[in-house]
Amino acid sequence: MGISMRIRTAVFPVAGLGTRFLPATKAAPKELLPVLNKPLLQYAIEEARAAGVESFVFVHARGKSILEDQIDRYPALEALLEHRGKHEAAEDLRSGTITAGDATFVRQPEALGLGHAIWCARRHIGAEPFAVILPDDLVASEIPCLKQMAEAYQSTNGMMVAAMPVEREEVSKYGIIDPGDSDGALIEARGIVEKPTMEDAPSNVAVIGRYILPPEIMHVLENTAPGAGGEIQLTDAIATLSADQPLHGFRFEGERFDCGSIEGFLKANIRLALQDPKLAHCVLESIEQMPSRVAA
Ligand code: G1P
Repeated sequence: MGISMRIRTAVFPVAGLGTRFLPATKAAPKELLPVLNKPLLQYAIEEARAAGVESFVFVHARGKSILEDQIDRYPALEALLEHRGKHEAAEDLRSGTITAGDATFVRQPEALGLGHAIWCARRHIGAEPFAVILPDDLVASEIPCLKQMAEAYQSTNGMMVAAMPVEREEVSKYGIIDPGDSDGALIEARGIVEKPTMEDAPSNVAVIGRYILPPEIMHVLENTAPGAGGEIQLTDAIATLSADQPLHGFRFEGERFDCGSIEGFLKANIRLALQDPKLAHCVLESIEQMPSRVAA
């Protein structure tokens, strides 16, 4: 048995403009869009924490400083809620906050791509493997997705990406792996390519926004030229490093929602509401009471 590898640091790229959600995201960061009563950012933080993450690095940009207020403790508000007997609301508030000193904010001054955003966090990741979570990708699952990955990572080391099959027509929206042998949820990846055309895609197994990466990726990113869309792609750096380190896809248990799109966001809200005993009836009622002609 190797040494247990805890994933203690997670990087959250939160610099994106959220153009698919304008005008909602004109002044408010897309990471604060709520699914039910919680912002996307909070789902990502809770998932990281459940996986054992202690150090949270946010790569943000101009206009996004309000995210610092969102993750900060707000003792006066907590006290007020407790005083009013709103314990659940107080608990929801606390679980989205990060203890003073455990969060770091770094700026990505230019939108040069996901790979560049991760590279901006290089001074804060230390010498251990770290996680990357894209808050747009919400995964509803019994065991939080990153926790599933962190456990599986113990037997692989190297690099791991969350993976799921997508429709062939959709491959050009994703990083796509070239799958080799599978062992349970683990898929050996022989290669990985960012946003291939349908014709060039090595498979329909897509990467979704959860990664576990070794610190060496930072050096590779530094030397990665712009790729798909003229941006510095994390996928390209992973492809380069896969010559030296094993790369695995991980078929997580759970359902993923692309909350950066209106359709995915809507589905996430409906699905989570249906899972909530206090809200399920509200969704069902509103569908039942819908005049039948509206559907046409
Ligand atoms: C990013 C990654 C892509 C990945 C996707 C998952 O793309 O570059 O490899 O498949 O996230 O959501 P983006 O959605 O930022 O274009």
